[in-house]
Amino acid sequence: MQARNDAPVLAIDGPSGTGKGTVGRLVAARLDWHYLDSGAVYRVFAYMADDNGISHHDIDKLTDFSRNLRMSFAPDPSAPAIFCNDLDLTEAIRTERCGELASLYAAVPEVRSVLLDLQRAQQRPPGLVADGRDMGSTVFPDAEVKIYLDASAEERARRRYKQLKEKGFDVSLARLRQEMGERDRRDASRAASPLVVAADASRIDTSDMTIVEVVDAVTRLVETRLDALR
Ligand code: C5P
Repeated sequence: MQARNDAPVLAIDGPSGTGKGTVGRLVAARLDWHYLDSGAVYRVFAYMADDNGISHHDIDKLTDFSRNLRMSFAPDPSAPAIFCNDLDLTEAIRTERCGELASLYAAVPEVRSVLLDLQRAQQRPPGLVADGRDMGSTVFPDAEVKIYLDASAEERARRRYKQLKEKGFDVSLARLRQEMGERDRRDASRAASPLVVAADASRIDTSDMTIVEVVDAVTRLVETRLDALR
């Protein structure tokens, strides 16, 4: 796929709990670019498939089912909303159960392939910040800037715990850490588009950084790279 210079891409990948979503949204708002939360795409798919009683093992049914899914995103990165077949699923997909389901359906190559065009269609001027697991390796291999965000397992679990508590979910830190570990292992070991550090990605360990520091570092990287390409 050719990079379009009028619509450069910043690909942000990494495991769960590294702050990809928050950082991605803030950088998109700062640059006035579009924002793609690809995890939300997998969560919506999983939510709808599960709600319709279709197992992640049933490839034929999943393929048929995917033809009738119409997903859309609210354009404002500071107020991200996601709809499917006119249902507002913005909040419903944020549970840990839905994250777990997303990881099961996301391991199916046919599911990944039907969701590819939808993700690529989000690349439009003046630019796109895309966050997920395979943005730099598979979905946007020609992305102008690729970043891999990481943090210690302890810190990632703590951040996710705080986030879920703030949303009113009843969670245990120990259990969360275990579930996140299993999900990350599955995401990194699956055959189809596993979570990897793209060869040309800059790796940032955010364990001891504030969100503002990460946003500043990422924005600087984008500006430097785009200046070099001009
Ligand atoms: O980032 P988030 O926690 O919302 O992602 C939920 C799940 O969706 C991940 O654990 C992963 O299995 C899947 N996913 C993926 N590829 C992406 C984004 C998310 O496989 N680009």
